[in-house]
Amino acid sequence: MRVKYVMVAISWDDSYTVHVESIDRQHKKMMRLINDLYRISNDGGDDVQVEKALSSLSQYTKEHFEYEESFFEKYHYPFIKNHQKEHTNFLGTIAQITGELLNGQENDKKESINVMVSWLKNHIVSEDKQYVCFMLEHGVK
Ligand SMILES: [Fe+2]
Ligand SMILES: [Fe+2]
Repeated sequence: MRVKYVMVAISWDDSYTVHVESIDRQHKKMMRLINDLYRISNDGGDDVQVEKALSSLSQYTKEHFEYEESFFEKYHYPFIKNHQKEHTNFLGTIAQITGELLNGQENDKKESINVMVSWLKNHIVSEDKQYVCFMLEHGVK
């Protein structure tokens, strides 16, 4: 029997749920895109592949942030300013990381992926989880 070993940098578990199905689905997809990037940069993927994976991640992340923020705006989420700032900063971080992933040493590459993984974990658990009641009260599914 052949066992295929799949490298992952981050994996979903129920502790990440925000109890809103559409948002959980988007967070899972963001994790998948980070794992794609991790695999490609570890497999010695060329710059074109790495750039492609990074741009998919950054594009999808932008869409996800816009999705969350659309409800913040529509229903007047009280912590919108701080949450939006976190989102903007992370998009900046992804842009910064692009250079390190393309030109950096092995260690820098690992470190860059770790930065993204930690950010996403922390953001879901400490920021996104704050809006659970707000989203549920407004019937967001
Ligand atoms: Fe989120
Ligand atoms: Fe968020």
